[in-house]
Amino acid sequence: MRVVRVREFGPPQVMRIEEAEPPRPAAGQAVVAVEMAGAIYAETIVRSGRYPMPLPYEPGIEVGGRVVEVGPDVDPSLLGRRVVATTVGNTGGYAELALAEVDGVYPVPDGLPLERAIPVFQAGAVGIGILSAMRVQAGETVLITAAAGRVGSLLVQLAKAAGAHVIGAASSPGKLAVVADLGADVTVDYSTPDWVDQVREATGGRGAEVVLDAIGGAIGEQALQAAADGGGRIGVYGFASGTWLPLDVHQIVRRGLSVTGPLGIAFARPTADQRADALQALDAAAAGDLVPRVHAIHPLEQACDAHTDLEQRRTIGAVLLTP
Ligand SMILES: NC(=O)c1ccc[n+]([C@@H]2O[C@H](COP(=O)([O-])OP(=O)(O)OC[C@H]3O[C@@H](n4cnc5c(N)ncnc54)[C@H](OP(=O)(O)O)[C@@H]3O)[C@@H](O)[C@H]2O)c1
Repeated sequence: MRVVRVREFGPPQVMRIEEAEPPRPAAGQAVVAVEMAGAIYAETIVRSGRYPMPLPYEPGIEVGGRVVEVGPDVDPSLLGRRVVATTVGNTGGYAELALAEVDGVYPVPDGLPLERAIPVFQAGAVGIGILSAMRVQAGETVLITAAAGRVGSLLVQLAKAAGAHVIGAASSPGKLAVVADLGADVTVDYSTPDWVDQVREATGGRGAEVVLDAIGGAIGEQALQAAADGGGRIGVYGFASGTWLPLDVHQIVRRGLSVTGPLGIAFARPTADQRADALQALDAAAAGDLVPRVHAIHPLEQACDAHTDLEQRRTIGAVLLTP
């Protein structure tokens, strides 16, 4: 079977298609014949060598397709089912066949196309987990950075559905138009120097009760400036800029802010609860309540174009690959 393999860390071109033996499922595992795989920003970080991973490795965390083989102790009724799945070890999804732990395999609701199921089952669960960990309440103002991104575009919709007043922030007018279309009440371009003032203005001077930051670095630091004094809650869940949000403890103490790692809270819950979030996201997508944006669908041979687009901040929503 064909698989994308990385033998050295570096630019997107280090990803090469190679032939490999088909994976064989051990106990608790299933093999998915991949029809589509997600290409996600975190995978560009690993490929570039900024996150430890033994070489060689095969990228690909999330896939969709049909189950074609199951491990010895696995319910055989899974065979032939249309599923989305997290790959074993978060690798091997950019391939014709991928191996998944059964705990990370989810039947796709009837009528929901894979290009809408793959972008929501993990990213939607992450969004649901983040909002729950941050205890977002109806009526609160939530500022979301990278709001046009894979997770961000779902967070905007989920926060709106929870009754929040959503301020979506991103880096270009094109992205902001999509964020507004997804339901954000206010959009702000953080490539403009006065964007924190714009958030303050949009909140009557108070600032956002909740800030959800996926970027860190200078933008994350500015997002923290836009939090409401006397109780603003900052949820840090990514560092797309390459550095985590720098924290000035004196400022946090003086302004009465709290900083939380909402994904750590979500991932510490029992597996059954995390599965329930993924199933909830899939059901919401099937009902049309959670609508993922798909930026592009590339053939496997163009995986490096997908990574280039992600790294150059050109993507809105999800990017998919077809083997
Ligand atoms: N810990 C976890 O398990 C977990 C799970 C899911 C996601 N995350 C994290 O959450 C973040 C968002 O993930 P995602 O998959 O939804 O990605 P994404 O938002 O689709 O892509 C990353 C976005 O970050 C923004 N960005 C700002 N500075 C950037 C830079 N220097 N280089 C590249 N992008 C930059 C870009 O949007 P603008 O151009 O609009 O700024 C870009 O589109 C990532 O940091 C990811 O690692 C973590």
